Amino acid sequence: MGPALADLMLADGAEVTVAGRSRDRLAAAADRLGGVETYQGDVTEGDQVRRMAAAAGKLDHVVVTAADVTGAYAPLADLDLATAQAIVASKVLGPWLVAKHCTVSPGGSITFTSGIAAYRPAAGGSLVAMVNSALEGLVRALALELAPVRVNAISPGWVDTPIWDTVAGDAKTERLAAMAARLPVGRIGQPADIAKAFGSVIHNGFITGTVVHADGGHRLV
Ligand SMILES: NC(=O)c1ccc[n+]([C@@H]2O[C@H](COP(=O)([O-])OP(=O)(O)OC[C@H]3O[C@@H](n4cnc5c(N)ncnc54)[C@H](OP(=O)(O)O)[C@@H]3O)[C@@H](O)[C@H]2O)c1
Repeated sequence: MGPALADLMLADGAEVTVAGRSRDRLAAAADRLGGVETYQGDVTEGDQVRRMAAAAGKLDHVVVTAADVTGAYAPLADLDLATAQAIVASKVLGPWLVAKHCTVSPGGSITFTSGIAAYRPAAGGSLVAMVNSALEGLVRALALELAPVRVNAISPGWVDTPIWDTVAGDAKTERLAAMAARLPVGRIGQPADIAKAFGSVIHNGFITGTVVHADGGHRLV
């Protein structure tokens, strides 16, 4: 979703900075996108986020799509505390660190990425339901505390991205096709669908403290 958003913002004429852990993936993104700055760092590490934020300086809009959900999907009895702590760090504390350290222009925005699991939880999905719900509470609190900076979340439904290689492995294609057949829109989301949702929140100065759903109607089925 991050690269799709970068595409959209570059097309709008924005100056774009992309961050992530893998130097190789950042280099590939910079090659493909052209004209973006990159920062290598881990969103769960306070010092690294502080350094990235200081290097970036004042920003108009910040979007966090980073998440590593390795090991998150398992029955409660099979999950251990270390896995739970890693998922909380990735999806809740990382965004919290970004909000804490980034300097955003007044009237600018911070947008996090929640997800359908907060609304349509599945057995074996307790951790993902928990962190998405927690993130949405953080949005409401920060929208008050950081005003006039606006703070929101996009909640995607199922979107065809590399995260599904981790979540579903060889069953990815079959699981995404089965969900597409259930959804009112008749298809799985694409990264560009979510990028457009980010864009709508970023550019609308009247949206703050809320969650915008881009899920193909998933909450209804
Ligand atoms: N795809 C879906 O169906 C779906 C549905 C609902 C919600 N979501 C949420 O949408 C967001 C984006 O998901 P996606 O599908 O675009 O996932 P993705 O393709 O796996 O991309 C996630 C990105 O986050 C980066 N990342 C992971 N951990 C990081 C860390 N600790 N520090 C910095 N960067 C980190 C990864 O790059 P590096 O490995 O190089 O760091 C990767 O580029 C996530 O919050 C996900 O939970 C996705």
